Amino acid sequence: MNKYINDNKDRFVNELLDMLRIPSVSADPKFKEDVLRTAEFVKQRLTEAGADHVELYETAGNPVVYGEKIVDPNLPTVVVYGHYDVQPADPYELWSSPPFEPVIKDGKIYARGACDDKGQMYMHVKAFETMVQTGNLACNVKFMIEGEEEVGSTNLATFVKENKDRLTGDVILISDTGMLGNDTPSITTGLRGLSYVEVEVTGPNRDLHSGLYGGAVANPINILCQMIASLHDENNHITIPGFYDNVQELSQEERAEMARAPFSLEKYKQALELSDIHGEAGYVTMERNSIRPALDVNGIWGGYTGEGAKTVIASKAYAKISMRLVPNQSSEEITEKFKRHFESIAPKSIKVVVKPHHGGEPVVTPTDSVAYQAASRAYEETFGVKPIPVRSGGSIPIVAMFKSELGLDSVLMGFGLDTDAIHSPNEHFGVFNFMKGIETIPLFYKHFAELKK
Ligand code: BES
Ligand code: MN
Ligand code: MN
Repeated sequence: MNKYINDNKDRFVNELLDMLRIPSVSADPKFKEDVLRTAEFVKQRLTEAGADHVELYETAGNPVVYGEKIVDPNLPTVVVYGHYDVQPADPYELWSSPPFEPVIKDGKIYARGACDDKGQMYMHVKAFETMVQTGNLACNVKFMIEGEEEVGSTNLATFVKENKDRLTGDVILISDTGMLGNDTPSITTGLRGLSYVEVEVTGPNRDLHSGLYGGAVANPINILCQMIASLHDENNHITIPGFYDNVQELSQEERAEMARAPFSLEKYKQALELSDIHGEAGYVTMERNSIRPALDVNGIWGGYTGEGAKTVIASKAYAKISMRLVPNQSSEEITEKFKRHFESIAPKSIKVVVKPHHGGEPVVTPTDSVAYQAASRAYEETFGVKPIPVRSGGSIPIVAMFKSELGLDSVLMGFGLDTDAIHSPNEHFGVFNFMKGIETIPLFYKHFAELKK
C-alpha cells in the first residue's frame, strides 16, 4: 500500500486543494451553493474511490453524503464520519493568503478547512481508495459525511435516527481531532459537550445621551459586564447553582495517569504569548481544558463601536456564551440552569432574554476496546511509538448520539496539531500529517479485522 500512496501523493494533495477552493461555510446562507457543490465533490470522489450507492441524502439543512462498500457481510463494518462544511473565514484581513485559495508553504497546506475537517476527512477517502486499489480492504465501510458539523449537526441527528437500519456497524471511525505532536501521536478518548446561549439585556427603551442620563439609569452594557463577571468566583469556579452537580470527578490515579502525557507549560505560554496561565483553582492546564467544564463569552456587543467617540448609553447589550461540559453534565439541563440563574441575577432596572442555541453531550470513549487496540497498533506502526490516550476539550456533538442512538463507540483518530489554527486565520494542515493519516487508516482496518476474528 505504501507504494500506491507514494506514487499518488501529488494527486491526493491536489484533489484536496480542489476541495479547499470551494467555500463550504455552513453558518452563512450566502455560501449555500458552495456547500452543495462540496457535497457533490465528495460524492464524486467517493464514487471514484470505489464506494457503492453514493448518494446525497437531503435533510432540512445541508445534505449528508452517504456511500458504502460491503465486501463480505461476515467482516466487521467501519462507519466513517467526517464533515465537509467549514467555519467562516473571517476576519479575512488576518490571513496571509486568501482562505479559499490554498497554498503549500513549508510543507503545510494553508486554507480554511485544511485540517478541520476537509483535510482529515479526505484522508479517509484516499485511504479507502488505496485499500480498494491494492486489494487490501479488510472491513466493510460506510461513509457518512455531513455538512453541518460546524453549526451543531441537528439535521444529522435526525438522519441518524431515521437511518438506524442502514447505519449498523461495529465502530465509528473519525478523524476530526488532533494529536500531541508529530513525534508523540495520541488518540482522543473524550470530547466535551456544549451548551451555547445568547443573551440580550435591555435597559432604557432607546439609546440615550450619556451626559444627560449617565449615572441615573441602568446602562445595559455595564450591567451585562457585571452579570458576566459574576459567573466566576475568585477561584474561577462557575457560580451557576447546580452547575457542577453531575460532574464526574477523576480519581487521583486517573489524574496522575493524565499528568504523564508530555506537556510544557513554558511552550504553551510561549505559543500564545501569555505571561501567565489562568483557570480553575485546584486543576492544571491539561485538566482545565479537558476534564473540567468551562464557561466563556464568545462575543459581546452593544453601543457605539465606530470611529471616534459617541456619548451614548445603549438601550441593549448582547453576548454569546459557550459552556463546555464534561460527563455526566447534560446540555439541556445546564442551559436551563444558566437561564434561570442569569435571569435571577439581573437587577430590576433591566430586562433579560436568554436564547438557547445548539448543544451537544460530552463523551468518553473506551480504551479497552478492540477498536482502540487496533487504532493504537496502527499509530505504533506508522509513527514508531505507541500513541497516548488524551481527552480533548473540543466538541463533536454527534459522537454522543452515535452511542445513544446506534449503540456504537467512536475511535477518534485525529492527525491535526494544536498549532494548525483551526477556526482561526491561517488554518493549515501538514502534508506530513495528511499523508501519515492516509498510511495509518488502512492499518486500523487491518488490525480491527484481525482482532475481531
Ligand atoms: N473538529 C472540531 C472539534 C475538535 C477539534 C475536537 C480539535 C477536538 C480537537 C469540530 O469541527 C468543532 O469545531 N466543533 C465545535 C462544536 C460545534 C457545535 C460548533 C466546537 O468544538 O466548538
Ligand atoms: Mn471538525
Ligand atoms: Mn470545527
